[in-house]
Amino acid sequence: MASIFCYWLAWYLTSPVRKLRTASQQLASGDLKTRVVPELGRRTDEIADLGKDFDMMAERIETLLSSQGRLLRDISHELRSPLARLNVAVELVRQRSGKEADEALDRIEREAERMNTLIGQLRTLTLLESGTEIMDKKTIDLSGLVRNISGDAEFESAKRNITVSTELDDNIIIEGSEELLRRAIENILRNAVRYTAEGSEIKISLKRHVSEGKEYALLMVRDHGPGVHENELSNLFTPFYRIAESRDRKSGGMGIGLAITDRAVRLHKGTVRAFNASEGGLVVEIKLPLSL
Ligand SMILES: Nc1ncnc2c1ncn2[C@@H]1O[C@H](COP(=O)(O)OP(=O)(O)O)[C@@H](O)[C@H]1O
Ligand SMILES: [Mg+2]
Repeated sequence: MASIFCYWLAWYLTSPVRKLRTASQQLASGDLKTRVVPELGRRTDEIADLGKDFDMMAERIETLLSSQGRLLRDISHELRSPLARLNVAVELVRQRSGKEADEALDRIEREAERMNTLIGQLRTLTLLESGTEIMDKKTIDLSGLVRNISGDAEFESAKRNITVSTELDDNIIIEGSEELLRRAIENILRNAVRYTAEGSEIKISLKRHVSEGKEYALLMVRDHGPGVHENELSNLFTPFYRIAESRDRKSGGMGIGLAITDRAVRLHKGTVRAFNASEGGLVVEIKLPLSL
């Protein structure tokens, strides 16, 4: 009798803790609708109180994040039209002014173009955050896509004497959005080109990979740059996160590129991670399931 009672007691005490634990994991992995009180039934003890507190916290996080998302969406939307009008105005000024204004006007145009790109990135990010499905799904030859993108990177990197070497398995076919995957891969490669040392090598490899009976495409991009400090690695995929040194440097981005990569890959049920290579430089690895 005593052992049955003890068994029951242990179960009674640990089962809500397990539920809380599952709920925390779900919340942490991004399911903001997670609540735990309905799961706990009619308990009235401290664990039930903890459950209520958890739900309040989840509620607050959900509200904060959704208002942040809305804010970004509105900002990126509202900035479009003034920027378009600015471009028209620059053209008008150009027609009416003499040659001496050209340099300044070129500058204005370049900066406006940069702003346009950044706003475009913001829009993509907010779309990805609100969307739960891939809109333009089709069959993609990933090998071809990666070859294509690395060709573009080679063109950009020739200026800094950087070599891009590729090792690509053929015929890796995947269902998904070509546009999103292209952006995901481009963002990583652009970073590699930007951060790798002058005259160094960037290595791109794409391999078929089997783990636990499932087939994956494994894409790795490795550069020979400064790498990223260990405790900042996990933050790289957070929107607007830029490590201190690049924030000081006027190196362009807003810290959105890798966030877009992360969301795009996750929409394809894949994962992306970054780590430092043992001999220095950053490796970014995308793992995509070949059949969803
Ligand atoms: N290959 C890399 N080597 C070193 N640091 C990197 C690399 N890729 C990304 N980072 C760091 O991660 C930050 C976030 O990258 P990203 O999201 O692409 O933003 P952005 O390129 O707009 O700065 C960068 O600001 C940079 O500090
Ligand atoms: Mg970038």
